[in-house]
Amino acid sequence: MARILITSALPYINGVKHLGNLAGSMLPADVYARFQRSRGNSVLYICATDEHGTPAELAAAQAGQEVSAYCAEQHQIQHDIGRAFGLSWDWFGRSSSPQNRDLTQHFAHVLEQNGLIEERLDQMIYSRTDGRFLPDRYVEGTCPHCAYQKARGDQCDNCGNLLDPLDLINPYSAISGSRELEVRDTRHLYLLQSRMQDRIRAWVDAKAPAWGPLTRSIAYKHLDEGLIDRGITRDLAWGVPVAYQGVARPGLEGKVFYVWFDAPIEYIAATAEWADATGGNWRSWWREDEGALDVRYIEFMGKDNVAFHTVSFPATLLGSGEPWKSVDTLKAFNWLNWYGGKFSTSGKRGVFMDAALEILPPDYWRWYLTANAPEGSDSAFTWEQFAATINSDLANVLGNFVNRILKFTESKFEGVVPAGGEAGPVEQALYARVDETLAALTASLEAMEFRKAAQDVRQLWVIGNEYLQEAAPWTAIKTDADRAAVGVRTALNLVALYARVSAPFIPFAAETIAEAVGETETAWPSQPAAVELARVPAGLKVQAPEVLFRKIDDDQISEWTARFGGAESEAV
Ligand code: 2FM
Ligand code: ZN
Repeated sequence: MARILITSALPYINGVKHLGNLAGSMLPADVYARFQRSRGNSVLYICATDEHGTPAELAAAQAGQEVSAYCAEQHQIQHDIGRAFGLSWDWFGRSSSPQNRDLTQHFAHVLEQNGLIEERLDQMIYSRTDGRFLPDRYVEGTCPHCAYQKARGDQCDNCGNLLDPLDLINPYSAISGSRELEVRDTRHLYLLQSRMQDRIRAWVDAKAPAWGPLTRSIAYKHLDEGLIDRGITRDLAWGVPVAYQGVARPGLEGKVFYVWFDAPIEYIAATAEWADATGGNWRSWWREDEGALDVRYIEFMGKDNVAFHTVSFPATLLGSGEPWKSVDTLKAFNWLNWYGGKFSTSGKRGVFMDAALEILPPDYWRWYLTANAPEGSDSAFTWEQFAATINSDLANVLGNFVNRILKFTESKFEGVVPAGGEAGPVEQALYARVDETLAALTASLEAMEFRKAAQDVRQLWVIGNEYLQEAAPWTAIKTDADRAAVGVRTALNLVALYARVSAPFIPFAAETIAEAVGETETAWPSQPAAVELARVPAGLKVQAPEVLFRKIDDDQISEWTARFGGAESEAV
């Protein structure tokens, strides 16, 4: 039994996430976690809300709430929506936890002891109108790279370049809009990544063979450009105080660590939160001197997060000189776009996780977003493609198969799995196809190739339809009762198999399907098809489920296009 630690990028606390966020980290992590659990492995899937930094402060101010109250409320909302989507986190923590405060302060302390943190006198933008410094997103202005006029102080949303607030042309305060800004001196801590260049390159060289091309190229781009020292503190009130064991660092009183310093540490801290709540042992997952040497650690994230996870977070871990577990496989995703543009809350473009569940059950979204995961390149959501995927894959191919054979069993065999007959050449051919496709599916999931995995599982459903066409028990029943019995029994066994292999993708429907044929086994199939397709015994009572998947019609597409935007809505 392998021990597999899984984390998905921590969603910012500032509001419910859109489908792109779900598709590029939490959902594939969940599919993978469910698959590995069903393989009998010991899995720990950890996620949390990323609660510090300017996004949290700004969103709380907009909502007219205290930051701590805002974060508590939004954490619960994100938690509940994630659960409703079937995200099977073992723990969904909060980066504002005491565990994260202690660990973040610990890392800063040991990094400084190791000569990797330096206090520097900095120049930062100060707003006289607001009476405060304006770090990161508190200042906006024109991007020096692409001239986008609403670039944020830390990053340009248009061209993706990381920025320093001082780079912005015509800066203004994001709080008051004031342009009465000046540059003032302020003291900050810097993590001396430049001194760790060789160590981090050696670490990347050792790990990169297990990464995909997207992750590798981002990591080496940063290394080849040369690592720069990074300010890890901010003039903000909300965050982890720059202190150690309750004592503020002299000269930096009232300052906090930068959100990107403490956020990845929360992967560890959230595991400690899990342990405190459940009696688990978090150190055995994270400390190589306490059992984590045999842990396989996999991180899921969008491409904008990769540099932080291949350079900055490793710098924290390696620089500590302590035996922390570092990532083995980093699975990165491109963007899911909305008709070729970005999702936008203000522009009313795109579906957010809460609204998605108002209109359709979670499995519809899970299936579409996995089958169209932005893996090799960006992918674009369109209502037309969404409806076509659901109607074809879920309603026609899977739903119809399940419904048809169960209804037939009810009408011709009183809902009881028929006895009699033996597997013949048609069944042998089926077994061979199932064996081959199941092996491909297992390999795709092991390799975290989610689009391919969805195609493979769909192919298993197609094979069932083709088998049923050929076995045609509705014809056989007129002349050969045994033949008909074998066909029905085999098809019912396929239904049971589908429940097991579809569960990582569409866990809710999988449960309904399993119940219909009394399948209680949830383990991933590991036996030859001849064995796996002989589990549902003759004599068992089965029952057709309520409609598994409803087709999406044109009226719905029109209604949702009007509500959420479509091709004609303006890209931002
Ligand atoms: O980009 C984001 O949404 C960040 N909140 C991801 C943080 S991942 C981890 F490092 F915490
Ligand atoms: Zn730009």
